[in-house]
Amino acid sequence: EKKIIIAIDGHSSSGKSTMAKDLAREIGYIYIDTGAMYRAVTLYCLRKGYIQGDTIQEEALKADLDQMDISFRYNAETGRPDTYLNGEKVEKEIRSMEVADKVSLIAALGFVRRAMVAKQQEMGKAKGIVMDGRDIGTVVFPDAELKVFVTASPEVRARRRLEELQAKGEQTTYEEVLANVKKRDYIDSTREESPLRQAPDALVLDNSEMTIPEQKKWLRDQFEAAV
Ligand code: C5P
Repeated sequence: EKKIIIAIDGHSSSGKSTMAKDLAREIGYIYIDTGAMYRAVTLYCLRKGYIQGDTIQEEALKADLDQMDISFRYNAETGRPDTYLNGEKVEKEIRSMEVADKVSLIAALGFVRRAMVAKQQEMGKAKGIVMDGRDIGTVVFPDAELKVFVTASPEVRARRRLEELQAKGEQTTYEEVLANVKKRDYIDSTREESPLRQAPDALVLDNSEMTIPEQKKWLRDQFEAAV
């Protein structure tokens, strides 16, 4: 049976990661969350004090980037991969509001993107992979056999994100989360380096009005049609 590359792009908190992870597990593919990689770089910078307000110490980050080890290890308990930064499990830390607030700034840096894209291309070269992000179908794997672009209204995405954060005990409000969702959309789609955009050959899924089982079935059907 032929193995393919599945590129899942879309807006933040559109639920694409949940769909992508579940599909990968069902079909026995490797799942790579590229957002987690940009989040790990952001966490690293915050810890090192390389981010002050909206200013980033680019030279310091550039010097450290080569030695930064970002990897994923399968967690048998959750059935999903955890993100590791230089050997430390940071899955929880990279999902904080503090990281979410700064990640788009880090992801807008060309030298960071080039380093991450190179890692991602290496991870996917054997195929049999589901990769989720913003530029997978456009930049990382423009020849992916299946490309999906997932979106939902900002309000729906903010509500989903708020539930996630509250479940984790983060103190935040709907207004704050909605502002963060919109701010990330804006930065992600207007940045100079590979802005978030739909690949011309991507299948678009607006899941504002869909349940998770409906989305999963839709994606599974697209996969069956592609192989
Ligand atoms: O997918 P997630 O919301 O975790 O991604 C966090 C941020 O990382 C995005 O808002 C975006 O700024 C950046 N990102 C990116 N390119 C990717 C994946 C994520 O620029 N392929």
